[in-house]
Amino acid sequence: MSMSKNRMTYLDYNATTPLCDAAREAMLPYLDRYFGNPSSVHAAGRAARAAIDNARDKLAALLHVRPHEIIFTSGGTEACNLAVLGLVGRLSDRSSGGNHLISNKAEHHAVLNAIEYLEKRENFEVTWLNISEKGIIDLDQLAKAIRPETRLVSIMTGNNETGVIQPLREISHLCRERGVLLHSDMVQSFGKIDIDLSLVDAASFAAHKFYGPKGAGFLFLRSGLSLQPIMFGGAHENERRPGTENVAAIAGMAAAAEWALPDREAEQAREAHLRDALRSIWKVSVRRAAQLVWSARLLPLMFCSLWVCQSNARALPSDSR
Ligand SMILES: Cc1ncc(COP(=O)(O)O)c(C=O)c1O
Repeated sequence: MSMSKNRMTYLDYNATTPLCDAAREAMLPYLDRYFGNPSSVHAAGRAARAAIDNARDKLAALLHVRPHEIIFTSGGTEACNLAVLGLVGRLSDRSSGGNHLISNKAEHHAVLNAIEYLEKRENFEVTWLNISEKGIIDLDQLAKAIRPETRLVSIMTGNNETGVIQPLREISHLCRERGVLLHSDMVQSFGKIDIDLSLVDAASFAAHKFYGPKGAGFLFLRSGLSLQPIMFGGAHENERRPGTENVAAIAGMAAAAEWALPDREAEQAREAHLRDALRSIWKVSVRRAAQLVWSARLLPLMFCSLWVCQSNARALPSDSR
């Protein structure tokens, strides 16, 4: 995106994307006229509730899942936390299962820190899978690591920094074979690659990565799985996530998804083309991470770092140094 007003070319779409017109239009009525609390039974509340139901139906249809399998959250971090902490439960609930988790250190902090919390504070044992030179987790190690006490495997679909796509089908196969729950952080993948939620038990999403508003996201949770809420409050989201819903942001998120998904293939091809063109003309400093990016199955994004020598750096605005 070129922001002519600021004379800035914005390339950091992994960090966040601008709001698309469809999302903005879908949000405006709920910031203005339809301001009711969706839990209120009167007309104003019912109008807000209808927006949430509608958004849930739209997202479910786009992802080929059931509406009640979608739990709205405040974004990707909360969705990941809810999956990891909510599916595993607390130490005191462990009578119902084991104390072993499997993940890897390349996860976003939203998953990484939640799992490290369970490891350090709740005495869970964690197998941290090795990652190959190409950024892929070790499937043989995963197969060997799964054991009767394993409660959850959490492996992201597409990496937010390298763009590496994990072999989710194979991971899913191993987990299913052994009856272990699988969560995947799909925050960077939605709108960029095909997503098949039949492969996972839970998956996390954030609207601002696909041209929706910040502060809105959702967790897909397979029907029949129980989840322990990680916050205490009302009975919102089928008693799985308390708190008055961010109605406007939820409406905007569904509109953004509807806008972004149908064009996904064309957009993926366009972005991959841009990435490859940049790659061929830029003299990117080829450090280990850059080599890794060029050699694996990738999201249509490019990881690069720019090193500016000290004297030139002084001429740059402070936010670019
Ligand atoms: C892979 C991944 N997971 C989770 C998150 C957290 O999402 P949010 O910023 O909506 O909390 C991000 C955000 O950068 C991400 O890239």
